[in-house]
Formats: sequence, C-alpha cells, structure tokens
Amino acid sequence: MCGIVGYIGPKEAVPVLLSGLSRLEYRGYDSAGVAALSGGRIQVAKARGKLSNLVEKLKGGAPKGSAGIGHTRWATHGEPSDINAHPHTGASGRVAVAHNGIIENYLQLKEELGKAGYAFISQTDTEVIPHLIEECLKAEAGLLPAVVRALSKLRGSYGLAILDAQTPNCLVAARRGSPLIVGVSAEGNYIASDIPAVLPYTREVYLLDEGEIALVFEDRVEIHSAEGKRVEKELYTVTWSVDAAERGGYSHFMLKEIFEQPKALRDTLVPRVRRGSIDLSEAALSDEDLKGVSRVVLVACGTASHACLVGKAAIEKLARVPVEWDIASEFRYRDPILSPDDLCIVVSQSGETADTIAAMRLARERGCKVLAVTNVVGSTIAREADRVLYTWAGPEIGVASTKAYLTQLLCLYLLAIQLAFDKGLVSEEDYALYLRELETLPDKAETILSSTEPMRRAAELFHAQKDIFFIGRGLDYAAAMEASLKLKEISYIHSEAMAAGELKHGTIALIEPGSLVVALSTQGLVADKLESNIQEVRARGAQLLCVTYGDTDLREKLADQVLRIPRTVDLFAPLLSIIPLQLFAYHCAVLRGYDPDKPRNLAKSVTVE
Ligand code: G6P
Repeated sequence: MCGIVGYIGPKEAVPVLLSGLSRLEYRGYDSAGVAALSGGRIQVAKARGKLSNLVEKLKGGAPKGSAGIGHTRWATHGEPSDINAHPHTGASGRVAVAHNGIIENYLQLKEELGKAGYAFISQTDTEVIPHLIEECLKAEAGLLPAVVRALSKLRGSYGLAILDAQTPNCLVAARRGSPLIVGVSAEGNYIASDIPAVLPYTREVYLLDEGEIALVFEDRVEIHSAEGKRVEKELYTVTWSVDAAERGGYSHFMLKEIFEQPKALRDTLVPRVRRGSIDLSEAALSDEDLKGVSRVVLVACGTASHACLVGKAAIEKLARVPVEWDIASEFRYRDPILSPDDLCIVVSQSGETADTIAAMRLARERGCKVLAVTNVVGSTIAREADRVLYTWAGPEIGVASTKAYLTQLLCLYLLAIQLAFDKGLVSEEDYALYLRELETLPDKAETILSSTEPMRRAAELFHAQKDIFFIGRGLDYAAAMEASLKLKEISYIHSEAMAAGELKHGTIALIEPGSLVVALSTQGLVADKLESNIQEVRARGAQLLCVTYGDTDLREKLADQVLRIPRTVDLFAPLLSIIPLQLFAYHCAVLRGYDPDKPRNLAKSVTVE
C-alpha cells in the first residue's frame, strides 16, 4: 500500500526521503516520487516501478532543498505511471501533495476546479488536493487555514504530506482514515505513514489522530484539530529496534519472520500467564465480562480471517458459545444481526485494514463491545476498539503474514480457554493441562524449525505443479485455508483448500495423475475419515504430501512425502501444522524465482475497500 515520508531540517531532503521510502517498500507499491523545495520553487521527480528506477532517474539531477516529501504509490485511480505517481502539484506549482487513501468525491471536485480553470494532467483522485489547496490559498491568509478549508471539502480517506513553496519553513501533515506519524529529532522533523521509515533517525513520534493536522517545522511541531485549533499531544517513544525491522541475515523478511515465531509465541504468551492462570486484565476483560458473553462475532480479512476460523472452532468447542465468523468486506454490507450482549472480536495485524475498521465501527454503532486483536500499538483499530489484546509478534514486514497469524491464534486460544473456564465449562485440571500445553508450543515450534530440510525437499519436488489442493477436516481444514493462501500468494501456484469430505462433491473432478494434494492430518476424531479421502485422490493418481504428528503411524505408501510436527493437543495443532507449510510455500516461491517479500499485486496493509 502507499507510503509517505516527509522531512524538514538541516540535511538535504531527498536522500532522507529515499531512505525512508526504502523502509516502506515492504508495503507494496508500483511507482515512487519525491519533491523538494528550494529558492521558493518546488521540484518533483517521479518514476514508475521500483524505487531503484527513481534513484536511477535522480542520478541525472535530484530536486534540491532541505524540505521535501516522498511517496510510494499503489495504484487505485489510474494506472501505475510516472504521471500518476505522487507527489502531485497544483496548477501554479506552488503546492505539492503526497496522499494515501482515496478521495471519494474527486470527480465532483475535479469538475468544479476544472470550471475554475484548473487543468488536470493525471488520472488520480489525489490531484484535486493540491489544486484545491491552491484555490483555498487565494481566499485564506496562511497555509493552515487554507488546508483546513480544503480538507473540509474532501470526502473519503487521506494521510497527506503537503509542501507549499511560499511557506518554506514548514511541512503539513494531515490524517483522516489513513495512518500518519510525525517523528521528532534534533536534526529536523519527519512525516511518515509508518514508523519504520523514521526509525534510523528518531524514536520519538506523534501518532496523529483522526482529523488532526500537524505543522512540522525544522525545530518544532504544532498539532491542530480539523478546525485548526491547537491540540496538545504527548510524544510516543518507539521501543522496538531498527534491527527488528530489518532482515538480520536472512535472505527474506518472510523467512526471518517464520523463524521468529517461537519468540513471537513466547512474547505473546508469557505476559498473559501468571501463576497458572490466564490474565487478560490488560484488555480490561474481567472474569465477569467473559461470563456475560452469550455470542461472539469474529471479523477480519485475509490471513487474520483464517485465524478467526480457528478461533471460532476453539471458542465453540471449549466455551459452547455460538460464534459467527465473517470476512470484514462482507460483514459491513450485509446488515449483520448484532446485539449489545455480543462480543465482537476484530483481528488485524496492521490495525489499519479499511474493511476491518469499517466492520469494527459498525459493530460499535450497533452497541456491541469490540475487542481488537492487533499487532500495531497506536493503530486505528487499537485506538477505536473498546478493548485491545496485542499480539506481540513485533513488526511484520513480509507481505505474507506468518508470525502475526500464529500470535493471533494464540490470543484467540487464550480467550477461548478463559471464556470456557469462567463459564464453568472447563475443569481446573483441563485448564491447567491446556495452559501447560500452550507453554510447550514455542519449544515445539523451535523443534520444527530446527530441521527444515524436508520442507525444502518437498518444495523441490513439487514447485513446478500448476495446481495444488489442500485438504483437511475440522481444525485441519481451517489451517489448510491459510496454508493454501500462503502458497498461492507468494509462489503464484494456483491452489485451493477444501474440507476433505467435500472434495468428492465437485473438486475431485480436477484430480488427475500427478496432481498434488496436501493433506493435513492432526485431528484424531476424523483421522479415519481423512484417510478415506486421501485414498480417494490416490486412486485417481494424485501425489500426496502429508502434514502430521511425528508419532503418527501412516499406512504404507499413503503419502509420497511427510512433514512431521511434534504432537500436541489436537485443538492446538494449527499452531504447529502451519509452520512446515509456510516453509513449503516460501521455498516454492524462491525455487520459482519469485521474491516472497514482494508478491505481485499485493500489499501488506490494505487501507482501501
Ligand atoms: C492484506 C495482507 C494480508 C493480510 C490482510 C489483512 O491483504 O496482504 O497478509 O492478512 O491484508 O491484514 P490485517 O493487517 O488486517 O491483518
């Protein structure tokens, strides 16, 4: 998704902007640009494609100046091109703007501005903004009132960095619906859409709230409300390191993050388990609160929605509370039945996914209490939800979510167990047993990661497949959904996940000699049934890759390749069975020559509908 960086200070701006943008590359983008201000003139340079294309272009002469803004664009309105790349400038070249989000009324504004003589050169929605600010500057005395007036006319979402050639001592940052921070340092101040962009320079940041506008000077920052009134705000100190946001010796962020999973599990679990019981007080969830929950609604997108599928199974099985599961983009438009006694749980790694935010707001409007499970402190979801349970996975840079998924599962298991215990549905012995087992899982994850050769070998055997089918029953089906997504999103091999018993109702028609079926087999209750489904595809010539416990006795020749995981309580198996399949997907992508950190067409954080 788009990234924004801005800088004003004693240094030359463009190198700072490029270094910040390179730290936002992981968000996914298709063009990049910078603008800098010197001698009362704004110069802009933009290029389609990777940041390296822009760097190459700048060798022929870069914009000069110690105030500037930069952007990586992920196309929404208009194709990826040099012209559509940001920053965009107003008709007179006085104002330049970098924008994340979507302006919904841009066509109407474009028409009005067109009538007033403004000519448009791009296909973007963004271009209306610099024109509009220039128009408002005619009527207002000063940049701030002009920006306030212009923003009041915009509908939709924005994170903005604004440069005005006639106000050279300051940048403007404004936020509505798209995250934005202002970094503060002795060597100048920064604007960014994401903290990693400024981490090499500062850990002190302002997290802008909805509607806020910041005037960012070289030596100070003034924050104003949407109406232009001064707002006092506290600085937030970032506690994680630059290293944590960099690759640290691994060939890809995704691989690093897969290997960080035991730590992420420990970091998420340890603070929540005290003297043999689960403590969710940080989320202000008391035993009384949990006892009163009569229905749970789980809503998310992508990988987080797969975590919710596992959460649904765990909550229903243990706490016997009905759970509704939905993907946020469907939930928000289907007029869901919600009541104030429901607990709505939204799960989001980034805390910024537009559809999940909208689902959360809808649930709150309808009187539900919303609990957010998220990885990003200070994100929109973290701030707007009634309660927050953080996944302590650390920054996840790889577009394909791995460690965030595992920690989401863990949080949902903790909730399910505590809910069941508070409702008197789990005995003290079982409660203790579940907790003890959860505490072994970081080590078990480590065991899987200590011998990854079988996953690499499986990828070597199967990476040339055109289609791969994942099957499982119960919780294995939920894990299969995530395994299939991992594979397709980074290796571009077509894959689907099927409930194993459903295969014969249609999809089995696609199975032919040589097809690959990946079977997840960890659920004792349905192991025999799954075996029959495996036999069905074997009989049609399919090859079989099986994920199962180390001590499962697989009938001879049932599988061509087996990926083993340490035994655990079947309920928790998705926490382990996904790990070998993440690695299988990773190696398939690399062997096919693709960069797993930057899958085509995908973005880490989808802040548009
Ligand atoms: C994007 C990412 C996925 C992610 C989904 C939801 O599509 O590419 O990896 O699962 O958004 O993101 P969230 O931040 O809400 O978990």
